[in-house]
Amino acid sequence: MLLKEKQALIDLANTARQRAYAPYSNYPVGAALRTKTGRIFTGVNVENAAYPQTMCAERVAVFKAVSEGEKEFEVISVVTDNGGSPCGGCRQVLAEFGLDTIVLLADRNGKLLKETTVKELLPEAFTPEHLGKQVDT
Ligand code: THU
Repeated sequence: MLLKEKQALIDLANTARQRAYAPYSNYPVGAALRTKTGRIFTGVNVENAAYPQTMCAERVAVFKAVSEGEKEFEVISVVTDNGGSPCGGCRQVLAEFGLDTIVLLADRNGKLLKETTVKELLPEAFTPEHLGKQVDT
């Protein structure tokens, strides 16, 4: 993946981040997920007055993609104020669709701080294979 492609995906996530609904934490998060077919789905965190109903940006992006028929992912960029890393729940949701998905973490300036994979972020992940499922992505 070219550096300028990475930056473009980060910039999309950062633009999306402006649409985050985070009045409680004031920690807006933006994500941009690129599928193997080249489609891009963005996501933002959507908070709620009933705090546990909040949804993370990464999961919004994944669920948008899956609901549009895309389950094979190549890379996801995540932009926060300070380069925060996906929460455990989002790591698990990403793992469902492949451990090799690349994860780009960037800060508010769109500076790439870390490049990793779902496999690295969630070692020994519990996956569909553990349920004997040969999932057709
Ligand atoms: N958040 C995300 O959107 N993604 C993460 O992986 C970490 C946390 C959101 C949830 C909440 O709206 C805010 O960041 C503070 O936790």
